[in-house]
Amino acid sequence: MQNEFIEKVKQKYGGKKIYYILTMGCQLNENDSEKLAGMLESMGYKPTKNIEDADVIVINTCCIRENAEEKVFGKLGELKKLKLTNNIIIAIGGCMMQEKEMRNKIKQSYPYVDIIFGTHTLHKFPEDLYYVLSNKEKIQDVLEIDGEIHEELPIKRNNTKQASVTIMYGCNNFCSYCIVPYVRGRERSRRPEDIIKEIKDLAEKGYIEITLLGQNVNSYRGKENYGFAELLNDINSIEGIKRIRFISPHPKDFTDDVIKAIKNGENICKLIHLPLQSGSSNVLKAMNRNYTKEQYLSLVEKIKNNIPNATFSTDIIVGFPGETEKDFEDTLDIVKKVNFEQIYMFIYSRRHGTRADKMENQIPEEVKHERFNRLKNLFEHNISKNNQKYIGTIQDILVEGTSKNNANIYTGRTQSNKVVNFEGNKEWIGQFKKIKIIAEHTWYLEGKIDE
Ligand code: 5AD
Ligand code: SF4
Repeated sequence: MQNEFIEKVKQKYGGKKIYYILTMGCQLNENDSEKLAGMLESMGYKPTKNIEDADVIVINTCCIRENAEEKVFGKLGELKKLKLTNNIIIAIGGCMMQEKEMRNKIKQSYPYVDIIFGTHTLHKFPEDLYYVLSNKEKIQDVLEIDGEIHEELPIKRNNTKQASVTIMYGCNNFCSYCIVPYVRGRERSRRPEDIIKEIKDLAEKGYIEITLLGQNVNSYRGKENYGFAELLNDINSIEGIKRIRFISPHPKDFTDDVIKAIKNGENICKLIHLPLQSGSSNVLKAMNRNYTKEQYLSLVEKIKNNIPNATFSTDIIVGFPGETEKDFEDTLDIVKKVNFEQIYMFIYSRRHGTRADKMENQIPEEVKHERFNRLKNLFEHNISKNNQKYIGTIQDILVEGTSKNNANIYTGRTQSNKVVNFEGNKEWIGQFKKIKIIAEHTWYLEGKIDE
């Protein structure tokens, strides 16, 4: 049905029209935006990097923390002038639009927004756009219930060698701080054959690195007796795909068969992103994470025993309600014990409708910030030490492009996702090169070609 609207828009309004998509939040949102771009391009729209040139502007929102929402309001404010001068269409969609209060706020304070769509109605974008273009009406297209999975949407990928593939939607965990289960709905897994077909097609097009996406990938259930381990095994044997990454698993569901699949999968990266959230068993309980500090540490040990070259990255929230100094020290203790390659650190942000928002023992802002800085300092101190293990080693680097600051310096990543900079040439982009690591600079390593 959407194909019909794609054709209609293309014939009546496509051609020279230009689009701009602003994406906030996680890689799942980035992947959704690639689908929005795919739909827009099949309607005849062309991309621009300059928002002022666009005929259609789409904001794909995130609501995981308050600052992500504030950014959206700032952007919408800026767009008012553009709306008045150029005859543009403004669409806003994604996670934040699943919240009723947010939709009401948009309608009241930013009435010039043309389309509001949610996480379950993304695939209907061509239809929504068609009605706005032809009837000049405002559209709100948000479903409160879980949407179905829509396969075969057009997609315009951001990269030609690395691709994200969403394997499941939604989350059933209800961690007490998190809004995702409310805005993305319950877990729904894609069929294994659809995922495998998508990845085989990508391999044929020359893609070599795949990141599997889901809120909780190791509760993937493709069909009876077919879970995440089986999926990893099958993807590992797809010819042409040299690196397989996945985010995010949940420590409570990290089963032995998944450890075995990672160990045996020669193309599966041994960097495991294992969200910790807190190192304190008390806080973990209040967060509804379903594991203790000890269980997390023994999972890390078990993985290391089975996969000797495994490395870890993590997510940590500081300042969860009721977090005491002792609780926070437990978090620091885990950071000292597990040499994380990367830590994504967040200051706890109250999310309306979640259980943690109703907790009485909220932590004052200055304490949250002070703890955040202590965690950051500890990590930065550890990281340089941790980086030493790379010095003198020869790493397989997938060359991604030139460095942002210097066009003569090329950049790529190790299997463990470390950024490595080195002198190279244009032909190397998209290839694997053997690079010897010669120095470390906290956030990146420096190397040279190993001839
Ligand atoms: N406040 C701060 N960080 C949060 N995250 C999720 N919800 C919140 C919140 N309310 C973090 C978690 C999660 C990551 C994607 O975002 O660490 O793993
Ligand atoms: Fe949020 Fe927890 Fe689900 Fe992750 S597992 S999306 S943190 S509720």
